[in-house]
Amino acid sequence: MSILALVIHPNDILRAVSGAVPIEAIKNYRQLVLDMKETMIARRGIGLAAPQVGQNIRLIIVQTKDGPQALFNPEIKDSSEDQEWGEEGCLSIPGVFGDVERHKKIQCEYFNEFAEPKKLEAEGLMARVIQHEIDHLNGILFIDKGKNIHQN
Ligand code: CO
Repeated sequence: MSILALVIHPNDILRAVSGAVPIEAIKNYRQLVLDMKETMIARRGIGLAAPQVGQNIRLIIVQTKDGPQALFNPEIKDSSEDQEWGEEGCLSIPGVFGDVERHKKIQCEYFNEFAEPKKLEAEGLMARVIQHEIDHLNGILFIDKGKNIHQN
C-alpha cells in the first residue's frame, strides 16, 4: 500500500464531474481502494473521494464503525427533509473550515469493492460525510455552499 498525493484546491480535477465505474471494472480498482484507505487514515480524514487523489471516477471511501469502506457509484436514494448545520473541512482545502447544511438522514445505494450492490442508512456525521464526498464526485466543494468559511 502507499499513501497517495492529495489534489489541492484550486485544481480542475476537483471541479470535474466524475464518471461511473462499470460494475465489471470495480475489481480493477483493488489497489486504488487500498491506497485511498491508507491515505485517508494517514491524513486523519473521515472520508476521501477519488478526485482528491487525481482519479475522476465515482468512488469514495468513508470511515465507518467497522473501519474504512469503499463505495462505488454511490447514489442518495432518499433523504430526510430535516437538515442541520455542522462544521466541515476537507483534505483538499487544508486549514479551511466552515458550516454546511446537510440532510440529517440519508439512504444510499452503492457497490462495494467486491462489486456487490449494497444499501445503507446513515444519519448525523456519517450522513454528512457521505453527502460531502458525493459532492466531490460532482465537482462541488464544501466552500461552495458553506457559511462562515474561515482559516483555522
Ligand atoms: Co472533501
